[in-house]
Amino acid sequence: MPVAGIDIGSLTAEVVLMDQGKILHSVILPTGANSKVAAEKAMEEALKAAGFNRSDLEYVVATGYGRVSVDFANKKITEITCHGRGAHYLNPSVRTVIDIGGQDSKVILVNDKGRALDFTMNDKCAAGTGRFLEVMAQALEVELGQLAELSSRAKNAVSISSMCTVFAESEVVSLIAQGLPSEDIARGLHQSIADRTSGMVHRVGLTEPVMITGGVAKNGAVVQALNEKLKTKIIVPPEPQIAGALGAAMLAQEELDGSK
Ligand SMILES: Nc1ncnc2c1ncn2[C@@H]1O[C@H](COP(=O)(O)OP(=O)(O)OP(=O)(O)O)[C@@H](O)[C@H]1O
Ligand SMILES: [Mg+2]
Repeated sequence: MPVAGIDIGSLTAEVVLMDQGKILHSVILPTGANSKVAAEKAMEEALKAAGFNRSDLEYVVATGYGRVSVDFANKKITEITCHGRGAHYLNPSVRTVIDIGGQDSKVILVNDKGRALDFTMNDKCAAGTGRFLEVMAQALEVELGQLAELSSRAKNAVSISSMCTVFAESEVVSLIAQGLPSEDIARGLHQSIADRTSGMVHRVGLTEPVMITGGVAKNGAVVQALNEKLKTKIIVPPEPQIAGALGAAMLAQEELDGSK
């Protein structure tokens, strides 16, 4: 019978259903205004797709910033632990996990079992997170998904000096007004995310191989800028957004096995 991991992030909610270490189904939905409703919806959708009922679930672990509102979880576990385990499942050789989500970013060092040894986190400001890129895409009048492609056409990178999202947005507006190419501004914005993230990576100590998880991993320009900055080749899993829920599902199986 299946176990589940559920990750309620600031922007997206994920559910991973697993049975004996095998992924049965995964779901990604927007969290919206109500974390409780999002949790119910994502779980229902995953169960329905995999052909199970709620009563079939043997154990549920919740993680993410909204984990407190997942009433049906048997246990709540931090994102650090879950992302470490999820990344380990996706590639057991990984020793550094960079997670960049909508509202925070974190760097986790893991051992050969996927256990977190050390971590650092930025949850105090939007700079260096997905939210930063969303605001900047708007300022550049492009879709979020077009930002990486725009950046790939840059001839130069315009350095963005503001450390804060609000000031950086004004800076971008002013750079556009000065006639600087959007491509070069986009490149500069991706480099600024890479600079911030690489500072965090060096704080815990760069240990290869490195994996990136979270929605921002879907932005190829962030990955490329990070590769250049860290002088490494970061592993991008096929679905980076489910790593937290995946780790939560692995831990659910472990809790269940331990209780038998
Ligand atoms: N296809 C995509 N292309 C580029 N960026 C994307 C794409 N999909 C998601 N993102 C980025 O991912 C971010 C959301 O990431 P994620 O779903 O990991 O956040 P979250 O887990 O809800 O947030 P947090 O962990 O901070 O609470 C968005 O802000 C956006 O910048
Ligand atoms: Mg997240």
